[in-house]
Amino acid sequence: MFENVIEAMVDAVLVVDVEGRITLANTAATRITGYSLDELQSIVVSKLLIDDSSGLRTVVRRRIEEGDVLRREESWLVTKSGERVPVSVTGSPVLKVDGGLEGIVLVARDVRELRQLLADKEAEIKRRTLAEEALRTAKNSIEEQLDQTRASLLLAERRATLGTLAGGVGHELRNIAQIQVAAVDEINGALAEGEDVTALIKTVIGDLERVGEHISAHGQRLMQLARPGPDHVAPIDLHAIVRDVVAMLRGAGKLRRLEILTSIGDGLQVTVNRTRIEQILVNLIVNAVDAIGDQPGTITIEIQPTPDAKRVVCSVADTGSGIPEDQLDKIFQPFFTTKPEDRGTGLGLPVAREIVQSYGGNLQVASKLGTGTTFTFDLPR
Ligand SMILES: Nc1ncnc2c1ncn2[C@@H]1O[C@H](COP(=O)(O)OP(=O)(O)O)[C@@H](O)[C@H]1O
Ligand SMILES: [Mg+2]
Repeated sequence: MFENVIEAMVDAVLVVDVEGRITLANTAATRITGYSLDELQSIVVSKLLIDDSSGLRTVVRRRIEEGDVLRREESWLVTKSGERVPVSVTGSPVLKVDGGLEGIVLVARDVRELRQLLADKEAEIKRRTLAEEALRTAKNSIEEQLDQTRASLLLAERRATLGTLAGGVGHELRNIAQIQVAAVDEINGALAEGEDVTALIKTVIGDLERVGEHISAHGQRLMQLARPGPDHVAPIDLHAIVRDVVAMLRGAGKLRRLEILTSIGDGLQVTVNRTRIEQILVNLIVNAVDAIGDQPGTITIEIQPTPDAKRVVCSVADTGSGIPEDQLDKIFQPFFTTKPEDRGTGLGLPVAREIVQSYGGNLQVASKLGTGTTFTFDLPR
């Protein structure tokens, strides 16, 4: 009966006597070890089962002599061909009638399959970790590329604004130069007639002086526009900025024949980057012009301090087409445009809002279809 039971087990079963000699083994033991039953019976168990640290035999014996049941001891089974098979060993004492130790029943389970499963699982986890890592890297690089694209779009938008302004400055310079040319013509004419030009020169010299100052100032402005430099922040006079931007847009032919009304508190200064504010104003004013189209219309620019005097509120209002209600939240999205491709980029408002927000302010819109639109933003003083 006992033999039948151990024979039926898939695990290797070895019964050893107190000397460690194998007295009984099952077929599974011969299959795993590669020894025949006869061969097994002449082998001491310490040759068959070893563990990495202490000899298994001593451990097994000591533990079992103390009456312990040995549970799942990880060790190696050395086969006939010398291969080491990882096994999990359990052992229980076989006791004599008087209680003394007669032998030990060792059951060794081949754990290669289990280990393989574990190894497979580990490999799987590693593969997954690597895949996740790769995904994260890819995501980071995509985000980086997006950041770069965004940065270059902002730059492009800024260049477009600066280009518009530069065109305006060029126009102003030409106007100024015409004053000079006219004055010089007049003097030349008088000289040709042999007239005394003293009186004439006295009348135009003031103009020529102003022409020089203007050319110098505008030259400087062009240089600034060409090379905006880092976002230099300084207190600037809003009145002057609005006046310049309107003059330059007018010069660049962007205002058609539209009337621009301004209502700006005196001496209102904001501490911001000049080019940035110009960018906001150019975007809002050009949008207003587009919204008015070919009709007559008015653009009103108002700037007032807030009641606590800590900030200023600017508004650009037009009498244009207005914005449909379902588009009011879309117009601040990058690339949202209702204009033909060669006119609209859909970047003006998102960029303007971003600039305002970078100064801790807000850019808002109120609009009525067919009546007009007002954009309002605030800046720190
Ligand atoms: N003052 C305005 N009146 C009516 N619609 C406007 C006004 N300003 C902006 N919009 C709408 O918002 C859209 C987005 O504006 P914007 O971001 O400046 O891009 P773009 O001017 O290149 O189209 C415009 O295409 C237009 O439909
Ligand atoms: Mg625009």
